[in-house]
Amino acid sequence: MSLSGKTALVTGSAQGIGLAIATKLARDGARVALFDMNADQAAAAADGLTAEGLTAISGFVNVVDIASIKDMLVSVVGSFGKLDIVVNNAGILSSTPVQEISESEWDRIMAVNLKGTFFVCQQAFPYLKESPQPRIINMASLAGRMGGYESSLAYVASKGGIISLTYGLSRQYAPYGITVNSICPGPTETPMIRQWSDEQLAGLLARIPIGKICKPEHIAHTVAYLASDAAEVVTGIAFDINGGIYVG
Ligand SMILES: NC(=O)c1ccc[n+]([C@@H]2O[C@H](COP(=O)([O-])OP(=O)(O)OC[C@H]3O[C@@H](n4cnc5c(N)ncnc54)[C@H](O)[C@@H]3O)[C@@H](O)[C@H]2O)c1
Repeated sequence: MSLSGKTALVTGSAQGIGLAIATKLARDGARVALFDMNADQAAAAADGLTAEGLTAISGFVNVVDIASIKDMLVSVVGSFGKLDIVVNNAGILSSTPVQEISESEWDRIMAVNLKGTFFVCQQAFPYLKESPQPRIINMASLAGRMGGYESSLAYVASKGGIISLTYGLSRQYAPYGITVNSICPGPTETPMIRQWSDEQLAGLLARIPIGKICKPEHIAHTVAYLASDAAEVVTGIAFDINGGIYVG
């Protein structure tokens, strides 16, 4: 499924799942914008794609800051002339036990994961509604589906919130042809899960019927499908990619 002629913005794309998504979308023909708090790493990633002959730009964004979100969108549309696909991937994890979660940790996780996702969706709307096949794909999590095993309840609630706001936005943006979907990955091999011990990871793996931890590329292929014209009536879903750890 070619994405030729499309432009895509991926937040949190300096590494991990976001970088795999940006790479897949670019290889499928989209011009991609890699925005991240770690602007240097995003720039290096974009340079890597450019060296492959693909079209990629990069920049700084802190998704907790609405002014920064606005700057990002102006920069992307200034470079590409339009915006077709937005992937809200930036996120942070914690695994603090429930009785030890502080107010500041709760606020930090909610701000990056839930508030950031919402305000990118809100601020991107004027640009997306001009696209013939506009797409929003929000990165939720298995944890938001079924309460999590190793993740903190701040993370769990933020990801559950992303699933809910995706349901609501899919209806509210449907009259403009904008599809809005979320993806719920299970444990995925990225720098994020390095905060878990080998024991915690072994425990998670033991719960996965397929017996494999997800790779970022598994997630990226699904995003590419949801971003394609083939998915023009697929909206309001929470797409599980988890090796069978949660079905339903
Ligand atoms: N790895 C997993 O097991 C897993 C499972 C389910 C869901 N997810 C979700 O997938 C997404 C990507 O996760 P990952 O594993 O690639 O993580 P990662 O930590 O490897 O990458 C996350 C990226 O987001 C960026 N980022 C963090 N805060 C930001 C902010 N305020 N503004 C802009 N960028 C910011 C980081 O700099 C980093 O480049 C996250 O939303 C995560 O919650 C991951």
